[in-house]
Amino acid sequence: PSFREPFRPQFHYSPARNWINDPNGLFFYQGEYHIFYQYNPFGNEWGNMSWGHAISRDMVHWEELPVAIEDDGDVMIFSGSAVVDHQNTSGFGSDDSGAENPPLVAIYTGHQRVGYNQSQYLAYSLDRGRTWTKYGKRVLDVGMTAFRDPKVFWHDASQQWIMVLALPDDHKAAFYGSSDLKNWTLLSHFGPAGHTGGIWEVPELFELPTPEGDTRWVLKLDLNPGGPHGGSGCQYWVGHFDGTTFEAQQEARWVDHGKDFYAALSFSNLEGRRIWLAWMNNWEYSRDIPREVFNGHMSIPRVLSLQRDAEGLALVQTPIPELEVLRGEPTVLSALPLTEQATLLHQTQQTTLEIELELEMLDAAETGLKFVFGGQEEVTLIWQKDTSELLLQRNSKTEAAGFNGAHTAVLNATKETLNLRIFLDWSSIEVFAEGGKTVISDLVYPSSHDLKISGLAQSGSAQIRHFKLWPLRAYR
Ligand code: FRU
Repeated sequence: PSFREPFRPQFHYSPARNWINDPNGLFFYQGEYHIFYQYNPFGNEWGNMSWGHAISRDMVHWEELPVAIEDDGDVMIFSGSAVVDHQNTSGFGSDDSGAENPPLVAIYTGHQRVGYNQSQYLAYSLDRGRTWTKYGKRVLDVGMTAFRDPKVFWHDASQQWIMVLALPDDHKAAFYGSSDLKNWTLLSHFGPAGHTGGIWEVPELFELPTPEGDTRWVLKLDLNPGGPHGGSGCQYWVGHFDGTTFEAQQEARWVDHGKDFYAALSFSNLEGRRIWLAWMNNWEYSRDIPREVFNGHMSIPRVLSLQRDAEGLALVQTPIPELEVLRGEPTVLSALPLTEQATLLHQTQQTTLEIELELEMLDAAETGLKFVFGGQEEVTLIWQKDTSELLLQRNSKTEAAGFNGAHTAVLNATKETLNLRIFLDWSSIEVFAEGGKTVISDLVYPSSHDLKISGLAQSGSAQIRHFKLWPLRAYR
């Protein structure tokens, strides 16, 4: 592939060829970030699910490696996670201590083609993730057809491995404990709770510091359909986890207010930061949107933290600072008045870019930005005063049902200014508002690279206090 196909992401990860969905098995080890993902080695549609693989030293420049764990014709390799087994509890290590060369262990759902049984399996690597050996036996089989997506991590306080799984049809997460990754004991269930308009998939559970200096646990579960704007979506709870039970302390919230952020997974074995990324797509139309030799890409990696607001603790996502290496020479503007006559801010042929801006409402009813591609297709981003909403409207030339439309998020109601950080690539836009407390991630398919960005206001005036735009280089 040329990697310059019309909708090829330039700074997001996509495979050279074929279909991908969920990120799987993310971990950091010996200076390398590994991502695996649901991958069809034989085509650009869902099928023959296997774990594709890519590595990076900075989460910006990615190198695709051979398929890590292959479908054998009987059992497809569905989603899951991976850990570094530092104590060699699994015994897969080459010596008893494992300290020199600890086994890397992937825990995934095997989906049987005949009978549809879903149960949990292991594979391990002793060569820095380059090759993976399947452990022959199932490690957790309860005879169910919907029992999947194990997220495993070492829980220090209770000195055991914890596995969180989705019971998709029951709107439940199940928690299991193990000392060796091979024998698992049921600990508890969570749910039904929060949004239950569709099946639950791909759980995540991790601990984050609070602004007050203690910690909370975040439980994330994806939903399909029943997402915030139809199709699939991603919800989370903040609460306590004691090694046995997760207890939510507040209502479920949406992780992302766009339509294209699904099955997010965070890196294991990474000290100091919690970072995740997701499949930028929606099961509602993932099969119908424009496709190239490849089909599907990942979001940019995001650093996670907790911030307090009126409803409790909010999950905050900010782009990894590593992405700044892609920035070219910035364009800087300041104190720009906005009126109903759209003000042209920038015109370019380079539609991979990052924008940082601060909007001030003044006496307008709404203000925002308009991206016009080739004089016709539009993406508008509007901040409305009375509803205190941020709205992203996309109009692309795709017939895919459920694609075009507006995606809204409610913002902090009292603000007079709004900070935005926007990442535009050849087939997606990610908007981080209020320092990453509110995020809208959407696919977009502009058929032209002739882009005009303007600012506008309705029923009064507004202003752009600061505007900074960087062209972003492709990582390949
Ligand atoms: C989520 C999902 C998972 C499953 C995988 C199959 O998108 O449906 O529940 O493991 O995709 O590809």
